[in-house]
Amino acid sequence: MNFEKNILCIGAGYVGGPTMSMIADKCPQYKVTIVDINEEKIKAWQTDDLPIYEPGLLEVVKRARGRNLFFSTEILASIKEADIIFVSVNTPTKTFGEGAGKASDLQYIEKTARMILEASDSDKIIVEKSTLPVRTAEALERVLNSNDRGIRFEIVSNPEFLAEGTAVRDLENPDRVLIGSRETKSGRKARKEVGDIYRNWIPKKRVLESNIWSSELSKLTANAFLAQRISSINSLSAICEATGADVREVARNIGTDTRIGDKFLNASVGFGGSCFKKDILNLVYISETLGLKEVAEYWEQVIKMNDYQEVRFVKNMLKNMFNTLAGKKIALFGFAFKADTGDTRETPAYYISKMLLEENANLVITDPKAIPNAKIDLEPVVSAYTADKMLSFEEDPYKAAYDADAIAIVTEWNDFKVLDYKKIFDSMRKPAYLFDGRNILNHKELFDIGFEVYPLGSSPLTKYS
Ligand code: UDX
Ligand code: ADP
Repeated sequence: MNFEKNILCIGAGYVGGPTMSMIADKCPQYKVTIVDINEEKIKAWQTDDLPIYEPGLLEVVKRARGRNLFFSTEILASIKEADIIFVSVNTPTKTFGEGAGKASDLQYIEKTARMILEASDSDKIIVEKSTLPVRTAEALERVLNSNDRGIRFEIVSNPEFLAEGTAVRDLENPDRVLIGSRETKSGRKARKEVGDIYRNWIPKKRVLESNIWSSELSKLTANAFLAQRISSINSLSAICEATGADVREVARNIGTDTRIGDKFLNASVGFGGSCFKKDILNLVYISETLGLKEVAEYWEQVIKMNDYQEVRFVKNMLKNMFNTLAGKKIALFGFAFKADTGDTRETPAYYISKMLLEENANLVITDPKAIPNAKIDLEPVVSAYTADKMLSFEEDPYKAAYDADAIAIVTEWNDFKVLDYKKIFDSMRKPAYLFDGRNILNHKELFDIGFEVYPLGSSPLTKYS
């Protein structure tokens, strides 16, 4: 079959996989290929056991796979035949050298650019899909257009705003799609061509075009604003616990002001995920390199508040369990950074687990999807401890809670809302503590069952303190 366009995506991860599957599903006239250096991942994309858990994604993939959606490790050959290349490789925070802990590690991006250069023999549009620091496009442009073979690459920024767990819905019906390019004739032509892909199923007015730097900066800004809301409400949760106010009521009361809005006001153990922290650190680093110290400090505070919230959660457990957790069995309900994903990148559960293990607690982790990642993440933590510190994983929450002193809810999985807490209470040691770090349970009911209940951001329901 002759396809209208050949679209390639380099990087088959949480962003590239779902985004390209949606494009292929909605646009059967395009050939969409996704490549990755990771062979296992590519193999998994070809089965019904996809490498990422995302509700509804398998159906989308199955509709298009083999028709106009292909997964491959043939990177160079795929680059050669592509008209438009989306770059969706990982951009973690740098762990070494200049900017360590803040700047983005661009080695994967640069390697990708060099591969594109090596394999190309015709003009192409290169689309930045990963979250990148502002002005990365310029660096990409320099590498790519340094060729002396007369090949022209037009760089377009098209940041992804999908959230994990709701990726299919977000891709199908996004608030907006953002496409930035150079304000030149060829730049505008390229961004129109990329916009046309999305206009196949997204209303025209939601496809926003801008200059390339605005587009790059908007992605960092959107994540920074969302994270800032969570840190703001989390800071208030501490005040609420100390005063008798209820953070859920405060959130509702302010959220009805249409200027504020009601989204992203759930107080929690802290935000996680691959984007928020990384993007804010990026913003901080950019501000510092521009000499904007006050701006850098302003955004850094959002992260500090998040760290504080994680520590505060564990300190609260400690304080209310007679200042010792040593040898006590704690069931951690949830390890994923949010519900409906197996992703554990930057999950608050990791830091909470680490602190609980440092307190010599006997930790049991249960999670519907994230146990495999939790095991990998905690491996170095466990090997750093002596034999008397214990960690285990349990798929069944009832078994995890059996004989436990406390349950700590860390991820807002629906699975945890529908459990029989009377049965759980009966199997626990007494007093049985429940720390609801996501406020997903009915605290009054739990208290009536007999639990010592510690919600987040409101007064505890307890018989003893
Ligand atoms: C985020 C952005 O929402 C998305 O637009 C961007 O493309 C990638 O980063 P994601 O990290 O997948 O998406 O999840 P999100 O739903 O934003 O949640 C991030 C974290 O904040 C989670 O740990 C979540 O539990 C937490 N959160 C969210 C809260 O603690 N309270 C809230 O009210 C909302
Ligand atoms: P994101 O959440 O941004 O999608 P992931 O880590 O889930 O990040 O996915 C990025 C993917 O990019 C990984 O599967 C990784 O193997 C892949 N990748 C990194 N560098 C390259 C490269 N040079 N060529 C092809 N794939 C790459």
